[in-house]
Amino acid sequence: MVAALATLPTYKDLPGPPGPPWVGNLFQIRFDAFHSTLENWADEYGPLYRFRVGPRKIAVISDADTIKRMHRERPDMFRRTRSVASATEEMRLKGLFSSEGDDWRRQRKLVAMALNTAHLKPFFPKLQTITERLMRRWETAADAETPVDLCRDLMRFTVDVTTQLAFGIDFNTLETDGPVIQQNLDKVFPMLNWRVNAPFAYWRYLRFPKDRELDRALAQVQQQVDEIIADVRKRMLSDRSLYDAPTNFLEAIIAAKESEGIEFSDADIFGNVCTLLLAGEDTTANTVAWTVNYFMQYPDYFARARAEVDAVIAPSAVPTEIEQAAQFPILEAIYNEAMRLKPVAPLNAMEPLQDVELLGHIIPAGTVVMMLNRRIAMQEENFGHAQEFDPERWLVSDSERKCPHDVSTFLPFGTGPRFCPGRNLALLQMRTVLAMICRNFDIDLVEPERAVTEKLAFTMMPTNLIVRMRKRSA
Ligand code: HEM
Repeated sequence: MVAALATLPTYKDLPGPPGPPWVGNLFQIRFDAFHSTLENWADEYGPLYRFRVGPRKIAVISDADTIKRMHRERPDMFRRTRSVASATEEMRLKGLFSSEGDDWRRQRKLVAMALNTAHLKPFFPKLQTITERLMRRWETAADAETPVDLCRDLMRFTVDVTTQLAFGIDFNTLETDGPVIQQNLDKVFPMLNWRVNAPFAYWRYLRFPKDRELDRALAQVQQQVDEIIADVRKRMLSDRSLYDAPTNFLEAIIAAKESEGIEFSDADIFGNVCTLLLAGEDTTANTVAWTVNYFMQYPDYFARARAEVDAVIAPSAVPTEIEQAAQFPILEAIYNEAMRLKPVAPLNAMEPLQDVELLGHIIPAGTVVMMLNRRIAMQEENFGHAQEFDPERWLVSDSERKCPHDVSTFLPFGTGPRFCPGRNLALLQMRTVLAMICRNFDIDLVEPERAVTEKLAFTMMPTNLIVRMRKRSA
């Protein structure tokens, strides 16, 4: 095997965009459009190419089988990039997402357990309450004709849901005026994106205004999260049965020392609380926001989704039973198409733990390999008329289908052992909140002349999605 590998071309033989010696391709990249730059280069240089950001050598792959294989072969053959681990560690945010090996295994078990479907059914009434709060917030905006920043309001919704399900705390940022935790979290994701990809860690020596702003945001997050943890510890001390039968993730991680003999440090607990807040916030909110943008662009589909929702939940304004949320095939087809064309995680990055063969080339251990997950779901051989928004593709039966539809290349939640443990929670939130929108509101862009564009800030979010919510016309 080693001899066979030795005869293959290596990273150095890969094609890629030229760049000057010291900086490489640094100045050809806008980090808030990193994904599009890499996708455009893939058009030019093929399914495996290389580029450089300062001294850092990066390979980029957009071959579906190789991408799926890399996702599957974790955590033993591939890890998340070391820059994710060091950036999150420095920001005191190290948790499941940025852990590896046994450390990852013990955290994964707890997180997966806390977010599994068995917990979603008893949680549904609380999700309904939070959805009704969002509806009332938008009814107030509609009455006052106040523009709504869709992503921001949806982030209030997703943080309220995550804190309620995972920590048993009713944050209710939807009905809070003034500063809320989301405003601090907002500053964390773009800086994480920047630091993970930065050519060198300048902030260890020199702090610019945006680094100081991050420090302030992190200090406030620390204070807010410490308060959550202290509340839960107090609750557990007054009810010792919660150590034997924890009811949510935070209780489970605090109780793990007694129940399973696994000790999580205060830093582990803090890091994982922040991980769940961050991982659950932008992702779900931005996915809903992209879907609403398609509602506005394709009114015929919006009308069909609306008729479907009416038929299932009327006269209620929001879904009232978890089973209803599973009865919206048209809505599901629309948000699947939104996640195929506008996935909030259009790329994923890993490092091989030993030299590996990728598409006939030897890639040395430790090389950053970026996987273009969106691109593979936008290739003709995987999805017919791949560039078009066509929810119908998700509705036709396999026997009627006339063009490729390879769902194994549709990876909005990743795949393999590290695939998103929040997937079911995210889908339930999406169905519930989108059904509430369909049933209650008409939506328009406040400034239709300003294009809604993609911006990468760790997740890919829509810009300029400021809308006017109007109570649904008869
Ligand atoms: C539409 C919403 C969401 C999308 C599109 C999404 C997508 C993803 C993706 C692409 C990954 C990386 C998977 C991989 O490496 O194979 C991931 C990981 C993760 N997600 Fe999500 N996610 C969403 C919602 C959530 C929610 C609601 C939570 C929890 C509250 C969550 C928690 C996590 C965690 C903890 C990880 C790290 C898993 C690990 O490394 O083992 N996500 N997610």
